[in-house]
Amino acid sequence: MAGERVGLGHGKLLLFGEHSAVYGYPACGLTLSTSLRLRILDNPQNDWQLPDIDDRDCRLLTDFLAVMTPNLPVDCRRPGEIRVDSDIPQGMGFGSSAAWCVAFVRAMLGSEVAVDGIWEAAHRAEAFFHGTPSGIDTGLSVLDGLYAFAPAPPALPGARRLDGFPLHFLIGAAPRAGSTHGLVAGLRERIESGDGDAWGVIERLGKLSAEAIGVLAEGDSANVTELGRLADAAHQELANLGLSTSYVDQLLRLGRESGAVGGKLSGAGGGGAFYLLFKDPETADAAHRSLSAVRTGNGSGEVTLFRFSWVPE
Ligand code: MEV
Repeated sequence: MAGERVGLGHGKLLLFGEHSAVYGYPACGLTLSTSLRLRILDNPQNDWQLPDIDDRDCRLLTDFLAVMTPNLPVDCRRPGEIRVDSDIPQGMGFGSSAAWCVAFVRAMLGSEVAVDGIWEAAHRAEAFFHGTPSGIDTGLSVLDGLYAFAPAPPALPGARRLDGFPLHFLIGAAPRAGSTHGLVAGLRERIESGDGDAWGVIERLGKLSAEAIGVLAEGDSANVTELGRLADAAHQELANLGLSTSYVDQLLRLGRESGAVGGKLSGAGGGGAFYLLFKDPETADAAHRSLSAVRTGNGSGEVTLFRFSWVPE
């Protein structure tokens, strides 16, 4: 449509490597079908308007636009009215801000720009939201599928598509206490002040992630139990860093009791996204039913739970 520029960014499920990716360790994750669609409508005032956005986010995004726009090519800077439709839960660890960055740069730069150009610009944009992104969230938002990343911050990570095997998840989002920016910055402060325990955890998380990438690259579904074991071990390390909550721990415990081979938080933590992995869809469906029954009325706040199976093409 004339006078309308459109961009789309996907949500993501990080499987392994959150936080350690910021320090250059490998990570892997999946693109989700949830997405954020952003439209920029020309307006007579020729300025930025954000009618869909609440006051707090509006201030943040106005600053974002002021910082970002001058970095775009001169002929791609025209402001307008931004309209957003999204089914990615916001601020939960499913990559809503990365999807915002991807959708925005896609709308501004136009559909003829190649994937790497969009990823590069979205990666620079994401730095506005959380300072030192590894690039894996924007990567999963731009690319489509199961990917391993070799982060090289502040540059873009290398990305490799993985064969994988059918993965049956129960995915959840619990109330969140911190932001990605705060959690990444807090951990950096600990590491820079010489906290050897925190650095040890980062190294072990990186190693677990590398092992998980090996399992997924092999593509043998008989190894799903091993993947679950690695998820449990990675969750324990993230919990050691204070990144889990007792509520997420409890939901993961219940999931394992309901037949999950393992599970962990996903993304920056502090509550937010988590996943449980199952050998087959039937066990995952049954666990979905039992966890849905348990969580209602336990008083720890709303949890979103959904079933998701990823199957290689
Ligand atoms: C957030 O989804 C993942 C983190 O590792 C940050 C990043 O990689 O940029 C916590």
